[in-house]
Amino acid sequence: MIKEKDMFEEINQELMAFLDGSPTSFHAVENMKRMLDKAGFHRLLEGKRWELERGAGYYVTRNDSSLIAFRIPDKDYVGFQIMAGHSDSPALKLKANAELVVEKKYVRLNVEKYGGMLCAPWLDRPLSIAGRVAVRTLDGVASRLVNVDRDLLIIPNLAIHMNRKANEGYEFNAQRDLLPLFGGGEAKDGFLKLVAEEAGVKAEEILDVDLFLYNRMKSTVLGMNREFIAAPRLDDLQCVFASLKGFLAAEPGHSVPVHCVLDNEEVGSSTKQGADSTFLRDVLQRINSAMGRNSEEYLTALASSFMVSADNAHSVHPNQPDKADPGNRPFMNEGIVIKYSANQKYTTDAISGAVFKAICERAEVPYQVFFNRSDMVGGSTLGNISNSQVAVNTVDIGLPQLAMHSCYETAGAKDTWYLAEAARVLYSSSVCGDGDGAYHMLW
Ligand code: CO
Repeated sequence: MIKEKDMFEEINQELMAFLDGSPTSFHAVENMKRMLDKAGFHRLLEGKRWELERGAGYYVTRNDSSLIAFRIPDKDYVGFQIMAGHSDSPALKLKANAELVVEKKYVRLNVEKYGGMLCAPWLDRPLSIAGRVAVRTLDGVASRLVNVDRDLLIIPNLAIHMNRKANEGYEFNAQRDLLPLFGGGEAKDGFLKLVAEEAGVKAEEILDVDLFLYNRMKSTVLGMNREFIAAPRLDDLQCVFASLKGFLAAEPGHSVPVHCVLDNEEVGSSTKQGADSTFLRDVLQRINSAMGRNSEEYLTALASSFMVSADNAHSVHPNQPDKADPGNRPFMNEGIVIKYSANQKYTTDAISGAVFKAICERAEVPYQVFFNRSDMVGGSTLGNISNSQVAVNTVDIGLPQLAMHSCYETAGAKDTWYLAEAARVLYSSSVCGDGDGAYHMLW
């Protein structure tokens, strides 16, 4: 039998490789595809007819930045058991004609903010560029992943001598303060060539790009007892990875397990591949049709479905513990955080909260509870947005972390494993409800 500590260590090593190898949502999806291919899943295309077989697993992507994987049970199914997270993280995004020359001595790159980032951590550290390029082909356009896998850029701070008030709070001007230094004057006209070289194409073949800056610092384990992990993009790739691990380890049950990863949560989810799109609904409806079910049977299945919206949560901060609710205080390494909000920014209610607690108990993993302080407005996530497209009983959860939306975040070394275990139980089971307020679990 493996010791508990080894299980945590093992999944953290895998998680850190996944985080380091996924500088953008496109790369996260590519890495998940690889894991699914290896596990024998079949790729479906939205533009082709779906023929699904019982006992087989499938996945489909949209925009190469969102992915949904599912497995059809051997027997007729009850409903869908869904866990949804997001593939994107706040970052600086390259604009077109990116090079800006300063007095013929410097070349900077023009960027804009993607999402609600903490700006300061992006300064004074090695950065690089990743994303996708759209290239001209003989008969149209094709997409290529790109990652300039070396220390390339830096956004330098202004010296304290030139702003004596720098430590009294600083208002970042995104157009002035956040442009990275790409090179000396001779770097001019080099940017697109470099990207083309990395993408394995000619610069003149590139018609357009979706490129982001990313932090070059790798994930690491730290703390006296190795109790924390620090890494880029823990929000929300930590949940995404745990969901996929649980999905791949699940036993076939009475429902269709659905691992769902959506892009653009950080900018409001209202893209064709976001939580506010038809992506999840389209996939569930196509499963329904492919299995020869009618629309009545689709709605019956939804009533017996359950969704876990998994997006990271705030741990009590060691330096500012008073920022957390006085009565509900989540800490790293103490389990999955169930998130509540009276104004329903989080979908959790007494029923979905109770169902999720039962899942955690079955998985033998700890859970804790998060509320915002009553005098603070918190963030939002994908649960309630997704519910306007596919209305199923939903709970909002996450793993406790610090420094959310920094480009280097901190989380607990035990919690990924806890969520992977809860996900495994979720995906192996069914939560049956016929709409009269009572639910029974088929484990
Ligand atoms: Co998030």
